[in-house]
Amino acid sequence: MQRVKVELGSRSYDILIGRDLLAELGPRCRKLGLGSRCAIITDSNVAPHYGEETQRLLEASGFQTTIITIPPGEKSKSLKYVGACYDTMAKHRLERKSFVVALGGGVVGDLAGFVAASYLRGIPFVQVPTTLLAQVDSSVGGKTGINLKAGKNLVGAFYQPKLVLCDLATLDTLPERELRAGLSEVIKYGIIYDALFFRRLEEQLEGALKRDPAILAKIIARCCAIKAEVVSQDETETGLRAILNFGHTIGHALEAISGYGKYLHGEAIALGQVCAARLSQKILGLPSADAERIRALLERAGLPIEAHLTAAQKQKILAAMKLDKKVSAGEIKFVLARQLGKDEHGQKVPESEVLAVLEKIQFNS
Ligand SMILES: NC(=O)c1ccc[n+]([C@@H]2O[C@H](COP(=O)([O-])OP(=O)(O)OC[C@H]3O[C@@H](n4cnc5c(N)ncnc54)[C@H](O)[C@@H]3O)[C@@H](O)[C@H]2O)c1
Ligand SMILES: [Zn+2]
Repeated sequence: MQRVKVELGSRSYDILIGRDLLAELGPRCRKLGLGSRCAIITDSNVAPHYGEETQRLLEASGFQTTIITIPPGEKSKSLKYVGACYDTMAKHRLERKSFVVALGGGVVGDLAGFVAASYLRGIPFVQVPTTLLAQVDSSVGGKTGINLKAGKNLVGAFYQPKLVLCDLATLDTLPERELRAGLSEVIKYGIIYDALFFRRLEEQLEGALKRDPAILAKIIARCCAIKAEVVSQDETETGLRAILNFGHTIGHALEAISGYGKYLHGEAIALGQVCAARLSQKILGLPSADAERIRALLERAGLPIEAHLTAAQKQKILAAMKLDKKVSAGEIKFVLARQLGKDEHGQKVPESEVLAVLEKIQFNS
């Protein structure tokens, strides 16, 4: 088992990474002194695999559990399901010391975290992420939230979990496409923070795609360590934390204009990273060989690196970028790489450059 600590003073917590770790959940929750009742929030894809087992393991450690199963998918990150969770929790008399277990991918984690942050003004929660994306990204760092009709993640709270438990065995049932989408965020960590890690990914990508447990464990631990370091320095994204958004400015816009249906998040972010690498070349002088290595690694991971969009869609991407909540005073700001492993946030990019990159990336008009 590997252990990464997120240092946030009295709100510090451990991320545990290893195979068959679920068995540790009950004893670890006991050690944390959590109350006797808990709600396990999960989705209907994850529940048949791990729901009962999680319930049984927690009960074996003396906890009384209620399982709340939401439909899978982004649409469940909504006020409707927040309300449904509150009602079930109130019905089962969860109180201030009770806790929430988020068992699932980023959708479940974001929703369950927000429910925990707001129910009775905040009760403890534990993340048990079951997608690669959730294990390396969404379960760590305390961003919780839901979507509104007006846009993604518009309501939420910074609320840290008490523990993150990444059981690699849960990835055995993860669909191939979801695994590849998670690798997009993994590759991002190399680009923004650690050139050696990027090189290791170039060497070990096939092993990761084959779900080699030793390779996955090391990769996940390094990603969590990077995210933990960044979050410890800038919990509420006033500066450094923004580097985690490499590839996300164009990626989010792509997701928005395609109705959050065509691309998985990681896939949209792959395209966004190819664009950001090209902009980095132009604006910060990222060597062209490095931009090519970024593109090539994303391609080897089976992620989209080109798309076919009309001229109207390109305009829509620009408009969507301007609506993104990370944009201030109408200026489009990007995270760009000066070199592999060294990123700079807050880079203002003129619209004309963004359009030029959208053209170059072989988006057919
Ligand atoms: N809070 C953050 O910091 C943060 C960071 C990045 C992304 N996010 C959010 O995360 C969400 C995306 O997360 P995701 O990619 O994990 O998607 P997801 O939660 O929708 O999971 C992807 C799919 O895999 C299924 N699934 C999950 N685990 C499985 C398993 N072990 N076996 C079989 N099927 C399984 C799910 O039911 C779903 O159909 C988005 O809503 C995004 O906004 C949040
Ligand atoms: Zn992301």
